[in-house]
Amino acid sequence: MLSQKLIDAINEQIQFEYYSAFAYKAMQAYFEGEDLTGMANWMDIQFQEELSHAEKMFQFVCETGGKVEVMEIKAPNNKFDSVLEVFKETLKHEQEVTSRINKLMDLAQEEKNHTAQIFLQWFITEQIEEEANVSHIIAKLKRIGADGRGLMMIDQDLEKRVFAPPA
Ligand code: FEO
Repeated sequence: MLSQKLIDAINEQIQFEYYSAFAYKAMQAYFEGEDLTGMANWMDIQFQEELSHAEKMFQFVCETGGKVEVMEIKAPNNKFDSVLEVFKETLKHEQEVTSRINKLMDLAQEEKNHTAQIFLQWFITEQIEEEANVSHIIAKLKRIGADGRGLMMIDQDLEKRVFAPPA
């Protein structure tokens, strides 16, 4: 069982996960327009991951007797000036997600809700990977600077990413 306060807080995060999915879809559109198909693929996987995060939370609320309320999702940013800017925005976004998940965990701990704490632990671990992945890409982009061949190599590398549904 979850308190109404926890249900509301997780519900809010479900909406944010959907918003995250849209934000990455907008970034995918930017890369498609730049013919950077590997980066577009990477963002499409991000999109799918965010939908799976929302779904995982949705199922958890339902299984613990709560009710999800689906709300309006605001439009994400659609204007980007460079590849590096997109990935910097991605990192900032993931840091925001981490902060939100940590606050959810704080609430679950305050309420001594062990079920919610075990559930949220998966997301805390996931955020380590989310931030690390994009940080590595930013580091590579900074290293290559204006080198077009380097950019194409990174793009080819990101083409290999595949979606793995969460356990
Ligand atoms: Fe749902 Fe990228 O965190």
